Amino acid sequence: MASLWPLEGKDLSGGVGTVAESVLNIYLNGGATTFSAHVGADDCKRDSKRTSVEFFVIGDGKQLWRSGVMHANDAAKAFEVSVAGVNQLLLKVGDADDGNNDDFADWADAKFETTIAKTFKTGGEPVAAPVAPYILTPAAPPTPRINGANVFGVRPGSPFLFTIPATGDRPMEFSAANLPSGLILDKRTGQISGTLQSKGEFVVTLGARNSLGSAEKQFRIVCGDTIALTPPMGWNSWNCFAHMVSADKVKSAADAMVRSGLINHGWTYINIDDFWENHIPTSEKDVQDLVKPFRDEKGFIVSNARFPDMKGLADYVHDRGLKIGLYSSPGPTTCGGCAGSWMHEAQDAQTYAKWGFDYLKYDWCSYGDVTSGIIANPLNVPVRKNSKNDDFAIYPYKVMGGFLRDQNRDIVFSLCQYGGNDVWKWGGAVHGTCWRTTGDVNDSWRSIKEIGFYQDKAAPYAKPGNWTDPDMLIVGWVGWGRPHPTSLTTDEQYTHISLWCMLAAPLLIGCDMTKLDDFTLNLLANDEVLAVDQDELGKQATCAIKVSEIGNRIADLRVYEKELADGGRAVAFFNLGTEQVNFEFNDFTKLNLSGKKAVRDLWRQQNIATLNTAKDSLPLPIPGHGVLLYKFTTTK
Ligand code: GLA
Repeated sequence: MASLWPLEGKDLSGGVGTVAESVLNIYLNGGATTFSAHVGADDCKRDSKRTSVEFFVIGDGKQLWRSGVMHANDAAKAFEVSVAGVNQLLLKVGDADDGNNDDFADWADAKFETTIAKTFKTGGEPVAAPVAPYILTPAAPPTPRINGANVFGVRPGSPFLFTIPATGDRPMEFSAANLPSGLILDKRTGQISGTLQSKGEFVVTLGARNSLGSAEKQFRIVCGDTIALTPPMGWNSWNCFAHMVSADKVKSAADAMVRSGLINHGWTYINIDDFWENHIPTSEKDVQDLVKPFRDEKGFIVSNARFPDMKGLADYVHDRGLKIGLYSSPGPTTCGGCAGSWMHEAQDAQTYAKWGFDYLKYDWCSYGDVTSGIIANPLNVPVRKNSKNDDFAIYPYKVMGGFLRDQNRDIVFSLCQYGGNDVWKWGGAVHGTCWRTTGDVNDSWRSIKEIGFYQDKAAPYAKPGNWTDPDMLIVGWVGWGRPHPTSLTTDEQYTHISLWCMLAAPLLIGCDMTKLDDFTLNLLANDEVLAVDQDELGKQATCAIKVSEIGNRIADLRVYEKELADGGRAVAFFNLGTEQVNFEFNDFTKLNLSGKKAVRDLWRQQNIATLNTAKDSLPLPIPGHGVLLYKFTTTK
């Protein structure tokens, strides 16, 4: 905070310059009494008609101060607020809901007053999680309830593992009537395992019983060519641990998946991202211990010292009824500088299967050096300059997709190349299960907005076995090696989870699973919300309506609609503006809704209205950056 910021012609020292939308996350840990600053549009866009920003000071989830919309040439505003007792302070700059053209904004002359002589942490671990203002998900009943997808895909000959996800008091006894031969059920754990030898479709009646009651559910097992008939759900190490991941942390995540009860809602995969492999020589202290040969003398990949026993780790995860994933790149090195699969693809696919892995995220990274001719290309793979079409980009995924398919194991193939070359058009043809469509997500509203609301182009290609991937979840404690509570507000988190479910996205929790709080669990354990993601029709929602004005006021509402297998429709009303709106909605035809409909609020799990769509309207109080997620069902 030493630079000078030319704000309103004055040089005010001690501040930060940002571009809307931005958020600074400061951990005061209760150590400050007041915070003061001058705020305003930066002088570099003097006279711009496009500059419009708004400043917010938020302490432990409560708004302490807001500036109102400020334009270029407006006088700087000074303020002082009490921050006594505040643990987490967020300094946000909004774009005043009109995009961020020329939105350069300064926090200048910023000062904290403190009663104690110590410095604040601007990273690291705060003493308390941020306030979790409201929980919507009702607690699951103590009686048994079977949750999760209604369908499961497996290939003939592959090991079968499915754990019946059921909430309710334990002990619980499970049953599975009409289980095809080759599969067995462990009645105590609900784990179904074995192998199916030939293709076919089997309808099984799953059952769960405890001392308070019992539940049943029809469940379809489809033995064929396609796996992941609903989007994969699980956890990935990257967004919380990044280069600091270890086998112990992965085991803790698996344990927490069970202990927290999330496994009972269908959460399945425990995925190791980058840094299970050895690393190239580096001066980075954190990963010096990983600077070892990538492969053994026969060319097989070896894991690094933090992952001494990959097979043992996979067994550990499977024993808990979960599945396990890992990560590589088609290039010689991964994005983090670890071993990639270049020229060892077949061996790597065999190794993953031998160890017992169920999921591979395959990240472009250094493969750009192959396609641009920077590194030797003895196999003569397609390179960019000789390619008339996208074959140079498709090729590495086709190679690995083929090798994975050759294994006697079902391995989800997650394509990660940030949406280049319209991956959604060819990802399925290279045996991809899902494909990232953008760069990396982070825990800011801007990131959620710029990634989440720009997925329509990929929607026509999403279907059972092929999913659009807008990147992993960023609720809970995230932070890429230095975990902190997510910087998203409560409503932004509801938006994030609702939108990802509407998009039928793979759901990979990105937080430290050992630090799950009640609010985060409420976001991840709502079975009616998760059912939207896991719907067996496999449709990706698209934006059906944009509302840019309500009354005479500028607004930014997006209404997403998703057709469901039971004939109902999920509709998400998102408010991208910062203020709550109260909107009377009656544009039902644009949502393909007609006749009489029952409306259910999925977060609250409550029926809220019965409507005649021809003449009634629906009042929508939508919080700023928040959402209402409803299901419409035909009724008499
Ligand atoms: C890329 C990916 C991330 C993560 C890192 C690992 O940035 O997009 O999701 O896998 O690489 O280095």
